Amino acid sequence: MTVEFKLTEPLLERLGQARHVMVLTGAGMSAESGIPTFRDAQTGLWAKFKPEELATPEAFELNPARVWQWYEERRQQVARAQPHAGHRALVKMQRLVPSLSLITQNVDGLHQLAGSQDVCELHGNIHRSKCSVTHRPISREWLADSPHGPPHSPYVRHGLARPDVVWFGEVLPQEAVDTAMAAAARCTFCFSIGTTSLVHPAASLPLIALEHGSALVEINPSETPLSLQADQCFRGTASEVLTVIVSQLRDLKTNR
Ligand code: OAD
Repeated sequence: MTVEFKLTEPLLERLGQARHVMVLTGAGMSAESGIPTFRDAQTGLWAKFKPEELATPEAFELNPARVWQWYEERRQQVARAQPHAGHRALVKMQRLVPSLSLITQNVDGLHQLAGSQDVCELHGNIHRSKCSVTHRPISREWLADSPHGPPHSPYVRHGLARPDVVWFGEVLPQEAVDTAMAAAARCTFCFSIGTTSLVHPAASLPLIALEHGSALVEINPSETPLSLQADQCFRGTASEVLTVIVSQLRDLKTNR
């Protein structure tokens, strides 16, 4: 077990006794599955592409084919990706605690592929599509063979199929926000994993947890605006840190 990635004894005790755990994940959670993050200075998506040209409703209106193709490439990249040991450790953690809310900003579905239950997706899911006008879901069969541009919506004549992800300037799905806010207010132990903690409302969730007296642990190779408020920060990757923490938790539970 890598000692530097161990939870301190008092925090492990708090995790062992927590009735409700909240885990917030961001793009760094998927990095070890080969999916680029957004804000890495060299490899991040927003270092290579302009978000206003690809991830806004205005960009889609101006050039739907360009936006569709960019998402099609990302969809293919995500489809090739596999969950890593960190995703699997969170599945185990969900089995070891009485209740765990997994809230993700990621749109790749890797938590679900690993086996996590009831994942709350704040920013949508890249595998799903919806109508650009009514926002009703559009099935994969309807999209068959449309890699170059979005097909028309089955619902309204002037609508197009678009990815069911949240773009800049759009509101988040209300149900997901309500679920996440409730989990933040209720949890007694919170993990913030692989997120720069810059994009709200996701970035507010650990702060809400703190206001309600929760413990906070951050897992991120780099410092973030949240770091100073965390009870413990791990400067390692999601997989290396989570595997150690979950094995500590398993040992604690089996020795009780
Ligand atoms: P960012 O790209 O902003 O941040 C990724 C974070 O992951 C950084 O803090 C990295 O240091 C960290 N990281 C990198 N590799 C890691 C690893 N192996 N293990 C753990 N952490 C690692 O991504 P998010 O914070 O998720 O929104 O970005 C938030 C939102 O901004 C995204 O959901 C997206 C984007 O615009 C929408 O698309 C609506």
